[in-house]
Amino acid sequence: MFKKVPGTKDILPQETSSWQTAEAIARKIFSFYNYQEIRTPLIEEAALFNRTLGSTTEIVQKQMFLIHNQQDTYALRPEGTASIVRSYLENSLEKTQGFTKLYYMGPMFRLERPQKGRLRQFHHIGAEAIGSAEASLDIEIISLADQLLKNFGISGYRIKINSLGCPKDKQTLSETLNKSFQDKITQFCPDCQQRAKNNVLRILDCKNEACQKIVETLNLKQAHLCPECQEHFETVTHGLNNLEIPFQLDPKLVRGLDYYNRTVFEIKHSDLGSQDAIGAGGRYNNLVQELGGPDLGAIGFAFGAERLFLVSNTLNQNPPKKLAYLITLGKAAKSAGIKILNQLRVCGIPVDMDYLNRSLKGAMRAANDTGATYVLILGDDELKNNTISVKNMDTGTQKEVAIQNLTEELKC
Ligand code: HAM
Repeated sequence: MFKKVPGTKDILPQETSSWQTAEAIARKIFSFYNYQEIRTPLIEEAALFNRTLGSTTEIVQKQMFLIHNQQDTYALRPEGTASIVRSYLENSLEKTQGFTKLYYMGPMFRLERPQKGRLRQFHHIGAEAIGSAEASLDIEIISLADQLLKNFGISGYRIKINSLGCPKDKQTLSETLNKSFQDKITQFCPDCQQRAKNNVLRILDCKNEACQKIVETLNLKQAHLCPECQEHFETVTHGLNNLEIPFQLDPKLVRGLDYYNRTVFEIKHSDLGSQDAIGAGGRYNNLVQELGGPDLGAIGFAFGAERLFLVSNTLNQNPPKKLAYLITLGKAAKSAGIKILNQLRVCGIPVDMDYLNRSLKGAMRAANDTGATYVLILGDDELKNNTISVKNMDTGTQKEVAIQNLTEELKC
């Protein structure tokens, strides 16, 4: 028998209602903030991600699912931001819409070692606002993420934020780090020794204890920020305080993708264990230009949907459904029953029937198993009188109802 690919999941019918609930809540909250849905393909040219995420990043180096054709190399998208900026430019949204607020939900793919909360196919629920460098937009994006979490019934999360500054500030920070780490390189873990060559900033958020200890000695603050970036960051933190959104400043937060600058943030939940980020985001002011567009600011975030389910009770509660279940006794009743079934469905009443020719007892059990609120029983006697027997499974009461009144009866 075939098995699913490691790190992928079948979302079975008993789970899909939780997904639908999460998606419905997300759509509602996104609409309150005036974000519109965008759906981009699951495959893109691999070069798009090399260029935007950075060729030395972990995702590009180790985690891309690549598809080699005769001439082209495609990648299953590891994240949504790059595809959305590609689509924004390819469809000239910068000309037709200018400032645009978009949201998305869908599968992402990363070739990681699977563990709790870490999958090879997982889902993002995210937002991207493209076309403004205003600090007020950073405040909106973080408050949108916060509102989503509250509406998902999630509490106990921590929002960590930092500013990387503009590309020049990032450069200053990298140079400072390079200098500070110069005589300590051999004390770092092998990954960080590599990072010291390719992307020294990533040493800051390495989880290895020895590396953390060295980083602690730096006593990092936001000293690398130029006055404009400093002011931008102060406006953001002031705005979050104003909205009473708690956050923690974390100068070690640098994020793993090259496109970020200025504000970056990560939302963590301690109930998740080692993979504790439920979502993350930040500004990527140069990405639109990097992909051939005008000089436009942009910011966004994405939640890992599977991780949301791990920390939310609300999302995992299935809403009660109202379903009627028809049991027919005999050939004539079955034929009449099929017609009744059809009429009820046309009138918008969810109804199902027994397709396994069960005995009355067996069919009652099946009705109970489906969670039906009403059981409709149609036998020869009922057929003769043009009635149907309606049993309310919640109260246990049963009554005869004229078939012509059945729709009204069940609508109540
Ligand atoms: P990211 O931090 O790579 O950011 O992913 C966002 C979230 O996706 C993570 O915080 C985590 O919850 C979830 N996630 C990541 N990898 C996995 C995995 N292998 N299995 C399960 N969940 C996972 C981004 O992707 C950026 N595009 C976010 C962004 C949007 N920045 C600006 N706009």
